[in-house]
Amino acid sequence: MNKLSTKDFLGLKGYTKNELEGILDLATAMKQGDDRNEYLKGKFMGMLFNSASTRTRVSFQVGAKSLGGHMEYYHKDVLQLSRGETIRDTATVLGKYLDGLVVRYYDMQQYGFGRASLNEIAKHAGIPIINALDDKEHPCQVMADILTLREKFGEDYKKKNIVLTWGYSRYQKSPGVPHSFLTAAAALGMNIKVVNPKGFDLDEEFRCHAEEMKKTSGASISYSNDLTEASADADVIYVKSYKSLTMSSEEDLKVREELRNDWMISDQHFAVARPEALFMNCMPFIRGEQVTAAVADHPRSIVYDEAENRLHVQKAIMASIL
Ligand code: CP
Repeated sequence: MNKLSTKDFLGLKGYTKNELEGILDLATAMKQGDDRNEYLKGKFMGMLFNSASTRTRVSFQVGAKSLGGHMEYYHKDVLQLSRGETIRDTATVLGKYLDGLVVRYYDMQQYGFGRASLNEIAKHAGIPIINALDDKEHPCQVMADILTLREKFGEDYKKKNIVLTWGYSRYQKSPGVPHSFLTAAAALGMNIKVVNPKGFDLDEEFRCHAEEMKKTSGASISYSNDLTEASADADVIYVKSYKSLTMSSEEDLKVREELRNDWMISDQHFAVARPEALFMNCMPFIRGEQVTAAVADHPRSIVYDEAENRLHVQKAIMASIL
């Protein structure tokens, strides 16, 4: 098994194609039953969260246990963090007890909604940290998504036309999935179109990184504001909501409401896509917001496969850094 080159798994930037494919290969082997190796035997891990989670929380807990380890969940409210203890002190202390920590936590008072909280934890904990979603990336989700594509299409998944698009949501507003998807696609040599309304562009930092990566990987990456045109000949349509990086929250909400119907994935988009085209979403979603119920519940929808693969890919990630 290949160990990753980093102590932490905070985002996908910085990993080589071989490292990412190593995680996918290990996840596939584990899914096929090869978890007899108790990679986490004797390891005691924790999860530090301050927001809701179904897939991430349960799949990490089950995954750690199935590899012979132990995983406990700590919501901020049960720790002294909720009474003002600093991230630095919390991370330093947790690092004395645990062998690894899975984090979906923002300290709004000290650091705001951003990666700074995660970086502070990684700096002081002294143990491997896994990003379970922050304002920049959702690397575990995207590795599960790529594993799902590889299962559906074999190695040809790199040649498929993948539309990564924006969708309305009242609640889900992180560009974590699109940023990590763009990064993985650029490293692995995939073929994607990023399609979003004007004003909802992805971070320049991620777009520039992808441009650099594609020079060696052979990835094809393009950007558009026209969903119907981009859907033509698509093999996959992946929708994920995220907020504008420049508008204030109130303005952003108003603009998103106005865009809602024009950007909801429906049969109209699959009518111009390739006949066997698949629908993807990281979940959770609300039928009638990012996607119609007809598409979400159609056999072309592989959302439950993506959710299942969270388990297998995260086992591989834990085994690769611990
Ligand atoms: N996709 C995802 O991260 O789901 P949860 O928020 O339920 O963990």
